[in-house]
Amino acid sequence: MRSVEELVRVAIEARTLAYAPYSGYRVGAAIETDSGEIVSGCNVENLSYGATICAERTAVTRMIASNLGTKVLKVAVASKDGVTPCGICLQVLNEFVDDADAVVVCVSEDGSAEEFKFRQLMPHAFQSSSVRRTESPCDEV
Ligand code: THU
Repeated sequence: MRSVEELVRVAIEARTLAYAPYSGYRVGAAIETDSGEIVSGCNVENLSYGATICAERTAVTRMIASNLGTKVLKVAVASKDGVTPCGICLQVLNEFVDDADAVVVCVSEDGSAEEFKFRQLMPHAFQSSSVRRTESPCDEV
């Protein structure tokens, strides 16, 4: 298990890489995966504002695309004022968080940090038994 402190350090470092020319609001994220890896991400904005991707989702997509894990065990988010992940990011994290007690730590520039459990931030994620997983989702590659 990685420490929260280590995850926070990586999130703060990732924040320096943010591409945020439109909002000027830099965010860094770090997730601990079930493979024991720490995967970082930063927000990447776009002139077409809706195409912007948040730091947390950058980290999740890197985890999957780089084969660095299949589950999210912990999350750290670094920002100016210690924000919690947005709703879209929570839904995306929900796909890969098995333990609703998983820690989400939000750190601000002044060094203060607030710890949450994933279930506090996302008590009612979207899920429906009518939308079923296929048995072999990746057979058709
Ligand atoms: N942002 C994140 O990176 N994570 C969040 O959870 C919320 C918002 C980014 C998106 C955008 O680049 C900037 O913060 C301002 O909204």
